Amino acid sequence: MSRARATDFGDAAIGMWDGWSRARAGIPANDPWLDQFNADLEARRDQPILDLGCGTGADTRWLLERGYGVLSADYSREALRSVDEHLPGSKMAWVYMRRPLPFKADAFGAVVSSMALHYFDEATTHALTDENRRILMPGGILLARVSSVNDVNYGAGSGREVEPGYFDHGGYAQRYLSEHDVRRFFGRIGNLHFFEDAMTRPEPYYSRPKVMWTIRAEKAGTANESL
Ligand SMILES: C[S@@+](CC[C@H](N)C(=O)[O-])C[C@H]1O[C@@H](n2cnc3c(N)ncnc32)[C@H](O)[C@@H]1O
Repeated sequence: MSRARATDFGDAAIGMWDGWSRARAGIPANDPWLDQFNADLEARRDQPILDLGCGTGADTRWLLERGYGVLSADYSREALRSVDEHLPGSKMAWVYMRRPLPFKADAFGAVVSSMALHYFDEATTHALTDENRRILMPGGILLARVSSVNDVNYGAGSGREVEPGYFDHGGYAQRYLSEHDVRRFFGRIGNLHFFEDAMTRPEPYYSRPKVMWTIRAEKAGTANESL
């Protein structure tokens, strides 16, 4: 009988995310973090955009309200159900980020991923970054937010460390990234800009500041050449 690796919380966490999404079902809170990337997104308006780990669709909402086409992807069916019911014009895909992403190479002009790329062990995080690079067109951008080592209001410094920087919180695990981590994980994509910031959202769960890295990584080179 095969056994899950000590760091593989993937399947067990789906139930947690279903509950998280059920509790938030509805029109998602307004979160304006993508405003700063208006020009980047406008320049890619005619290209497909993926909201990876969309949850109940805060970023999907932002994109739809501005007339972008977006594919909203998650593995929580409750999350996808909420997006489907409350965000007219949405399109959805069931995606499991611990496996190769079910999209063709060079498929998206932008991948938007807020608070969803920090749940994975070292090897999976690298593989997922490579997958993001693969599905981006040359010149395509990953716009992401991931937890910082300074995210003390949301678990940094607590839990059982199962790998450096990766903590078991009971039922799910989360990575808290240093500046060095951001470079080594996301620099693989191409031209990298990032900064640390604290966000709050007009919803109870995010009423305390959440400290994250905001990341813009632009895929360099020609289609899927090796780095
Ligand atoms: C903190 S929520 C963020 C949701 C949304 N992006 C937002 O900003 O509100 C993290 C999301 O990642 C999804 N997720 C976590 N692990 C996943 C996996 N292995 N495959 C696909 N989605 C996953 C969860 O279902 C959840 O919707």
